[in-house]
Amino acid sequence: MSENFPTPEMLPRHDYLTRVMHWTIVLAFAFAACSGLALFHPALFFLANLTGGGPWSALLHPFAGLFMAAVFARFALPLWADNRLEPRDRQWLGQIEDVLAGREDRLPEVGKYNAGQKLLYLLMVACMALLVLTGFLIWRRYFSGYFPITAVRLALVCHAVAAFALVAGVIVHIAAAAWVRGSLGAMMRGKVTLGWAYKHHRAWFREMLRSGSGR
Ligand code: HEM
Repeated sequence: MSENFPTPEMLPRHDYLTRVMHWTIVLAFAFAACSGLALFHPALFFLANLTGGGPWSALLHPFAGLFMAAVFARFALPLWADNRLEPRDRQWLGQIEDVLAGREDRLPEVGKYNAGQKLLYLLMVACMALLVLTGFLIWRRYFSGYFPITAVRLALVCHAVAAFALVAGVIVHIAAAAWVRGSLGAMMRGKVTLGWAYKHHRAWFREMLRSGSGR
C-alpha cells in the first residue's frame, strides 16, 4: 500500500522526500553550526576538529550554509500553509501551563502543527533568510568588497544573532521531539499511530479521516 494512504492503524504524516530533506538539513546544520561556532570564538575552536580543522571550516562554512538554506527553502515552502497562525493558536499559547503539564484535553483542537511548532517554523524561516542575506555581505573572499565596511560590520552582528537564535530554536525543537513520544517516528518512518494523532493533533486527525473516508 502506498505510504500516502492511511492504514487501519497508522496515518501518513511526512512523505519520503520531506523526510530525506529534513535529515539532509540536520547534517548540513550540524556542519554549518560547528564550523561557524569554531570561527566565532577561540573558546569554541575545538569544534573545528569535527569539521576538518580551521582552514577547511572557514572555506566550507559558507557553502554548507548555502546548501542548508537551499534545501530548507525547498523543504519549508510546502509547509507554509500548515504553519499559518490561526485564532485557536493564540488560545493554545495562552494555555501554555496546560501544554507543559500535558493537559491536552483542555486545549483547543490542534491542526497538523501546534502553535509552538508554528512559531519555531517561522523563527527558522526568518533566521535562514537573515543568515543567507548577511552571509553574502560578510563573505570576504567574493562579496564583502562590494559593500561599505559599516554594512559588513552590521551584517556580522546580525549573522551572529540569527545563528544563535537558530541554534536555540533547534535545541527547543529537538527537546520537543524527544518530549512528545511518537513524533520521531513521524520524521523517521513518515507515519504516526491513530492514537498519537488523536491525542496531539485532533483537528488534523479528523481532517485525515474525512479525506480518507471515501475509501
Ligand atoms: C537532531 C535534530 C532534529 C530532530 C530530532 C528533529 C525532529 C523533528 C521531528 C520529529 C519532526 C516532525 C514533527 C511532527 O511531525 O509533528 C520535525 C519537523 C520539522 N523539523 Fe526537525 N528535527 C531536527 C533538526 C531540525 C533542524 C536542524 C531543522 C531546521 C533548521 C528542522 C526543521 C524542522 C521543520 C521546519 C519541521 C516541520 C515542523 C513545522 O512545519 O512546524 N529540524 N523535526
